[in-house]
Amino acid sequence: MGDFDGLVAAVTGGASGIGLAAAQLLADRGAQVACLDLNAADVKDPLYGVACDVTDGRSVQAAVDAVVERFGRLDIVVNNAGIGAQGTVADNDDAEWHRVLDVNVVGIARVSRAALPHLRQSGAAAIVNTCSIAATAGIPQRALYSASKGAVRALTFAMAADHVPDGIRVNCVNPGTADTPWVARLLAKADDPEAERKALEARQPMGRLVSADEVAQAIAYLASPAAGSSTGVEVCVDGGMQNLRLRPRG
Ligand code: NAI
Repeated sequence: MGDFDGLVAAVTGGASGIGLAAAQLLADRGAQVACLDLNAADVKDPLYGVACDVTDGRSVQAAVDAVVERFGRLDIVVNNAGIGAQGTVADNDDAEWHRVLDVNVVGIARVSRAALPHLRQSGAAAIVNTCSIAATAGIPQRALYSASKGAVRALTFAMAADHVPDGIRVNCVNPGTADTPWVARLLAKADDPEAERKALEARQPMGRLVSADEVAQAIAYLASPAAGSSTGVEVCVDGGMQNLRLRPRG
């Protein structure tokens, strides 16, 4: 018996990285899980891949409808799909600002809006948003991305307040730099990938990257009925990056 037996979850960006790890963990613990992703073809059984672009309202509605048609209900939404952006405030043009905010912020609104009627009917409804350390700490060369995640954090708290009467809990996880295909792609583009990885590891007090599985554990906790009194909270999974100030090693 798993703690998610009988519950249905939809994970956006569930074909890769943190989303895939969360989807697998929820399924291991008894949930029926749909992965809503641009790359739904990559999703393997027992996960149910559903083609979805979170920037397209029709695509989102069709994906949520497909989940409910297949499983008969929807209890948990993990709003995890996200894209990055690099540079200072001077480096991204308006089109790039709109593109990133459309995926990272408005995407959460679209998916949540489509899911709400179903979540309201669940006795164990939960939304978990994937936020970031970039929402709470100034990180160089991440102006647009950080703004998007700051919005995710504020949206999480606002949604949590709005949906207490509906019995829907809304929380977020704030990962530090995590060892996912996204970061592998970033490292591959660096002049010296090995040095860049070491610099990212050194930025986190534990001296290593966070794993996707560690973030998934926090997502599963917040999504689970066991967290029934937690709403409007953020869980840091960041190797101590947000709150610790260590003395230099050596
Ligand atoms: P990833 O690139 O491995 O996976 C992201 C997934 O989202 C991909 O499967 C992609 O196809 C999907 N996706 C992208 N745009 C989409 C769209 N418009 N509609 C539907 N699906 C879409 O990335 P990763 O690292 O697993 O990141 C997941 C989340 O975690 C993101 O929100 C990211 O901002 C956040 N995060 C990642 C950190 C890291 O260091 N990897 C650190 C903090 C937060």
